[in-house]
Amino acid sequence: MSEPQKQQKKILRALAGETLPTPPIWMMRQAGRYLPEYRATRAQAGDFLSLCYNSELAAEVTLQPIRRYGFDAAILFADILLLPQALGADLWFVTGEGPRLSTTTTADQLAALKGKDDIHEVLNPVYDTVSILSRELPSETTLIGFAGAPWTVATYMIAGRGTKDQGPAHALKDENRAVFEGLLDLLTEGTIEYLSKQIEAGAEVVKLFDSWAGSLKGADFQKYALEPAKRIIAEIKKRHPGIPVIAFPREAGNGYIGFAKATGADCVAVDNSVSAEWVAEHVQVDGCVQGNLASRHMVTGGQDLIDDTRRIVQALGKGPHIFNLGHGITPDADPENVQLMIDTVRNG
Ligand code: CP3
Repeated sequence: MSEPQKQQKKILRALAGETLPTPPIWMMRQAGRYLPEYRATRAQAGDFLSLCYNSELAAEVTLQPIRRYGFDAAILFADILLLPQALGADLWFVTGEGPRLSTTTTADQLAALKGKDDIHEVLNPVYDTVSILSRELPSETTLIGFAGAPWTVATYMIAGRGTKDQGPAHALKDENRAVFEGLLDLLTEGTIEYLSKQIEAGAEVVKLFDSWAGSLKGADFQKYALEPAKRIIAEIKKRHPGIPVIAFPREAGNGYIGFAKATGADCVAVDNSVSAEWVAEHVQVDGCVQGNLASRHMVTGGQDLIDDTRRIVQALGKGPHIFNLGHGITPDADPENVQLMIDTVRNG
């Protein structure tokens, strides 16, 4: 695709700092269990991980919300926990409960993991999904690749599962800092290789998901959320100049302020614990922001959804903005509410 054609894509224009008359829109977890067509394809694949590693079917579920809603971006269908699996951790999903992994908490377990350059054999199907999508997506749709941020991925590897307060990861940080920092370094380097391959396969934007950034306080936030993001973004920019990066240090609160400048991110995605008005004043001053409608509106719908959507569009309308939810859409959401949100964003 030629450069002028590429710049027609609304998401790329917003990421370049342009204020558009109506914001482009996509949605975290837009391919997911709230869609009957997703559930059918997942059943065909057998289970969630088989779907992630089946390039044809992963591309199919990525395309489903684009066909249904015409979102401005498609996000690669995969998971942030595929990288730990590629590094040699065992990974499985327990229905109704979530992910389980073999734990990495000792020097021996860390040493037993694979190196950053040995991840691709497992992850090749993901790159194939990206290639298929870059051929099949409509020309106006932007393809977003992604990875988990090192801290968030480490919280799962250390606990062996999702946790409410990331307690085991905080404990390892305090009790065995060498292993903790060694794991974060490996994840930082692995993430650079993983994202680079996604870009080489056709991802036009990459997003770094730091879902648990909010549990890092003070100096820990600087060291373990901001610094790894900065390292990853610097290397991506060096290898792939012109590829925009979205950073999502979820629930960072005041940590959102200055995050784009400090890390080199082109856009900061914000959750809905901060108001759009606050984001306009404190975060959007540095460039593009993404967010931040509460996901619950996709369940409850109605006038509340319309009012909140309009409020966010208005509050963030004076600068570069990509409309999105504050976190992923949940399985109990009503597909019609998604359409109502899109219509409200696009038609006022
Ligand atoms: O946004 C997208 O549609 C792209 C694909 C994507 C998935 N997970 C698919 C998925 C992305 C970007 C993720 C990121 C992810 N995965 C995060 C960071 C963002 C966030 O939500 O905070 C995290 C923490 C994970 C780890 C993970 N994967 C958990 C905790 C779970 C279980 C939760 C649940 O709802 O069961 C998953 C599973 C998962 N990843 C699903 C999807 C569509 C549901 C799987 C299914 O079909 O059963």
